[in-house]
Amino acid sequence: MVVQAKMTIDKEFKIGEIDKRIYGSFIEHLGRAVYEGIYEPDHPSADEQGFRSDVIELVKQLQVPLVRYPGGNFVSGYNWEDGVGPVAERPRKLDLAWRTTETNQIGTNEFMDWAKKINAEVNMAVNLGTRGIDAARNLVEYCNHTSGSYWSDLRISHGYTDPHKIKTWCLGNEMDGPWQIGHRTAHEYGRVAVETAKAMKWVDPTIELVACGSSNRHMPTFAEWEATVLDHTYDHVDYISLHTYYGNRDNDLGNYLAQSMDMDQFIYSVISTADYIKAKKRSKKTINLSFDEWNVWYHSNDADKKIEPWSIAPPQLEDIYNFEDALLVGSMLISMLKRADRVKIACLAQLVNVIAPIMTEKGGEAWKQSIFYPYMHASVFGRGTALHSTVSSPKYDSKDFTDVPYLDTVSVHDEDNETLTIFAVNRHQTDVLSLDADVRSFEGYKVVEHIVLENDDVKATNQHNRSNVTPHSNGDASVDNGQLSANFSKLSWNVIRLAK
Ligand code: AHR
Repeated sequence: MVVQAKMTIDKEFKIGEIDKRIYGSFIEHLGRAVYEGIYEPDHPSADEQGFRSDVIELVKQLQVPLVRYPGGNFVSGYNWEDGVGPVAERPRKLDLAWRTTETNQIGTNEFMDWAKKINAEVNMAVNLGTRGIDAARNLVEYCNHTSGSYWSDLRISHGYTDPHKIKTWCLGNEMDGPWQIGHRTAHEYGRVAVETAKAMKWVDPTIELVACGSSNRHMPTFAEWEATVLDHTYDHVDYISLHTYYGNRDNDLGNYLAQSMDMDQFIYSVISTADYIKAKKRSKKTINLSFDEWNVWYHSNDADKKIEPWSIAPPQLEDIYNFEDALLVGSMLISMLKRADRVKIACLAQLVNVIAPIMTEKGGEAWKQSIFYPYMHASVFGRGTALHSTVSSPKYDSKDFTDVPYLDTVSVHDEDNETLTIFAVNRHQTDVLSLDADVRSFEGYKVVEHIVLENDDVKATNQHNRSNVTPHSNGDASVDNGQLSANFSKLSWNVIRLAK
């Protein structure tokens, strides 16, 4: 069976410039993300600093522009001073967030070195759980001040003459959550966040700050939390954060694939709340969104209950992703690109081993999960201006959502390189979706490639067969006289690349 959809894409219907940081990711001191993930000194591919070059190679394929670090829940109990200076003298500490032991072999400077190797900037989080203004302003001074002060000279004495010049900083992590070390009310957090923000910017006025929004849209304090926090911090921060994780817990595929509509609603609500505070303050400034944790996360929940407390780098949050997860990740990317005018930063949580597109074996290979592909396609081909398209698609209802379009899509125009890229998910579980798109404003553009990720088994993974869920370029998209036509296989992720 075939269902029909129609669309018009016009280069003048601009949503906004895509900030490349929307393709960011996240490395937390959690599980095997750092140790045995990015860092494994005994691994055959380890470089002179002990970083796995096979992992660096895969991360480079993703063209990750920004990596959030060092947490996550971990940051709310972290003393950054434990992770700098001679490695042999660094303390072992209990990490109360994940009930593990942190050896501090990797800290701020080593991570900055790793980020340089993958050509990424770092989105550094400060501890507003057990610490506050003083530790945060000292960290900015340590990282960003050139020299001639206690903390900058300490950095130099640690072998880092040049400042790290970290631009983007998070004011704590998920401070609305009772699981957070130092959990606060919105008023309490708003007060500490604004005072910390002021001190950090007094050290380095060029930095940008992200205030903590809600841990997800279903928190009881959402969206009052955002309103209160922004009421306190509006003039001193630049972004408000959003976090969300989804899972197919009821094994209801139609409902699962519709969950990106929850993300749409979340983004819309946070924009509205931020703009309400803008109106209330009669401010000319606009607060943008940092979706600094997003992904699928549920496969590993039971296994994590069996982790031995206080072990070092145990295999935590090691979700093995299947094909249906890759489809939802594709739709989540589409949701953020559709609001590229306001979502300026986003971090796929996380990058290696922990709910990650890249997995490693100790002493062995690094491999790509199913979700690696939509993330890579968006990051590599989704640079430029996001475009509105008028879409007419048949729809379905699911347990939690009504009017779910089978066709989920967004387009990106790169004016400089004269390319147009269409990202699309066909959510239909049995039918091919046949698309006719009016692309007359892209005169002279031809299809360069139609990439497809499809699989007859929605539960297929790459765990035992690394090429089980991999894309091919045999899609049938073509353009004739300003009309693009393409067939999207049932349950597929599609990337149509056009160029002049
Ligand atoms: O990414 C895993 C965890 O999810 C993070 O540490 C926390 O911020 C969130 O709850």
